Amino acid sequence: MMKFWMAPGGLHIEPGETRDAKDLARIHGQSFYRGWPSEEFERFLADKASPVYIACDARRRIAGFALIRNVADESELLTIAVDPKWRGKGLGRALMEAVFADLLLSPARCMFLEVDEQNQPAIRLYEKLGFATISSRKGYYPRPDGSAATALVMARDLG
Ligand SMILES: CC(C)(COP(=O)(O)OP(=O)(O)OC[C@H]1O[C@@H](n2cnc3c(N)ncnc32)[C@H](O)[C@@H]1OP(=O)(O)O)[C@@H](O)C(=O)NCCC(=O)NCCS
Repeated sequence: MMKFWMAPGGLHIEPGETRDAKDLARIHGQSFYRGWPSEEFERFLADKASPVYIACDARRRIAGFALIRNVADESELLTIAVDPKWRGKGLGRALMEAVFADLLLSPARCMFLEVDEQNQPAIRLYEKLGFATISSRKGYYPRPDGSAATALVMARDLG
């Protein structure tokens, strides 16, 4: 089955493939203090349990992506990142909605995620999409100054 969702800015969303690993590592590295090597993305991309959704143009230039992991009836958002040039245009929301649409055909009934409690853009996005905070984890994210940030654990039913 061909998977394809429309996205703002003339882009679309489709499943990520092994060849995308370097682009995903680059965008991820622009977005987080601790990036992941492209080999890590290659492993996710090779595993059916951790699908990647990319927002890209007709020439497959990638503007953002979401990576999830499905275990039984739960799905976890491992990461979502949009190229800084493309932020604020609705791609983050479009990626999450594509994920929800795809999961309707899967056994997953609930999605979880962790987010830095100071990451307002991401928290606002998740709240708008119906996620609620269910707990927090102190000392979860390392910071450049050696301190550690608290993570909120958020959850949403998938219907
Ligand atoms: C979080 C992120 C993926 C959002 O992507 P985006 O494409 O810019 O988001 P959208 O344009 O789809 O915005 C959707 C909603 O998110 C919220 N939002 C997005 N950017 C925001 C900002 N800078 N400040 C406040 N709220 C913001 C808004 O509520 C927005 O809805 P609105 O446009 O109706 O107001 C992006 O900022 C990013 O890549 N950040 C770095 C990586 C990261 O922190 N990922 C999350 C880790 S858990």
